Amino acid sequence: MMFPNNFLWGASTSAYQCEGAATSYGKGLSVMDVSSVFQECGVTDVEVASDHYHRFIEDISLMAEMGFKAYRFSVSWSRILPNGIGEVNEEGIAHYHRVLDELEKHHIEPIVTMYHFDLPLALQDKGGWSNRSTIDAFTEYASVLFSHFGDRIKYWLTINEQNMMIIHGDALGTSSHRKVNNEKKDLYQQNHHMLVAQAKVMQLCHKMTDAKIGPAPNISSVYPATPHPDDMLAASNASAIRNWLYLDATVFGKYNSIAWSFMESEGIIPDIHEGDMEVLKSAQPDFIAFNYYSNMTVQRSRGESITQVKDQQMGESEQGYFESVPNHTLNKNEYGWEIDPIGFRYCLREVWDRYSLPMIVTENGLGAKDILVIGDDNIPTVIDDYRIDYLRAHIKQMRLAIEDGCDVFGYCPWSAIDLVSTHQGMNKRYGFIYVNRDEFDLKDLARYKKKSFYWYQSVISKNGTSLD
Ligand code: BG6
Repeated sequence: MMFPNNFLWGASTSAYQCEGAATSYGKGLSVMDVSSVFQECGVTDVEVASDHYHRFIEDISLMAEMGFKAYRFSVSWSRILPNGIGEVNEEGIAHYHRVLDELEKHHIEPIVTMYHFDLPLALQDKGGWSNRSTIDAFTEYASVLFSHFGDRIKYWLTINEQNMMIIHGDALGTSSHRKVNNEKKDLYQQNHHMLVAQAKVMQLCHKMTDAKIGPAPNISSVYPATPHPDDMLAASNASAIRNWLYLDATVFGKYNSIAWSFMESEGIIPDIHEGDMEVLKSAQPDFIAFNYYSNMTVQRSRGESITQVKDQQMGESEQGYFESVPNHTLNKNEYGWEIDPIGFRYCLREVWDRYSLPMIVTENGLGAKDILVIGDDNIPTVIDDYRIDYLRAHIKQMRLAIEDGCDVFGYCPWSAIDLVSTHQGMNKRYGFIYVNRDEFDLKDLARYKKKSFYWYQSVISKNGTSLD
């Protein structure tokens, strides 16, 4: 079984995690530029990050050398609209045109995320996603993007990991920390606004361009800890609350009934304005993009979460509905995330079975403390066999999922180059390309090819036929 001929092999990044130039060239501040999460975790902020803003020509030429067919990156909303709405920053527009020129030169398909965690601060100051007017702000931003880049971009992603911003906003640094009466209700209100905003933007995309557009949640299939029916129910609750709430609203235009009954019991049903549900219903994504790092295992809720650390892949729980537990059949990476390649096949099958829409994997990868060594040719490199093993195992399972009948049209692991992690800094690296800086010492930011660079290059050149 082969990968389709036009399969989009590539990799991903996001603006705030790699661009740097966070306060230059007319860019407005985003919530990530002032996020306290980096300081709380004792890691670098994103002022310089990987300096991709200044080095994209070199970076894209390295991606081309790897044979990338696609590059998934995000546009910084506050670089385009420094205040979130209103005045357009022409330097920002010009910058992304230059990035697109470079990609075009190398025949690399841009896959563009409109919003990857970095809400303009000016909007956050007005209540962010709790404020219904952010729906209009996102639509305005989308219309600016479509009118400037609509003829250059074939694939748009609306919102990166909306589900993680709702469930793990504290770990990601996207939480607003505003004082509200009912924090949870406020979160699900934000979620509703994002769903409506996304639906409006999908409609707008179809009206203004010939491009395709889809959501980009983080999806984890959910295993019950035991075959006990209570654990089975807990798994079903977790899937509905973590995954299907988001995708059902996007694809079917309605709230998932299990998630709805959870919101009802918790007293957190969002205010839904007249016409909102019609908007959700009338918008249609062309594909589903999703990020996969691992699945999760849950048992019936017995109280509080038993895991101390909570982030995108750890420690999720909803008292009374489910609580996650470690899966002892799986190994973990050095940051505690379980490694589950077979689960990747399972997850692809589940999403395909449920929605029957073409899928693209927009994140998957291994975060590790890479060590720079001097290679045979006297050039620094990283011998990241652990990353190669991880990616190989996942790509094999993706191939099996395609054999199972899943329509997968691309794979963009995290990340093309090293960048700043959401809350674990620069030492947690994912890239094929090493960026020579430490947590706080910027060094020379030179780029070095890791062993995985050459391995992925060979995978792409053989279209995934030889993985060993
Ligand atoms: C995803 C995000 O949740 O996981 C990325 O979309 C993030 O922005 C990636 O970097 C890896 O997570 P982390 O926490 O290791 O950076």
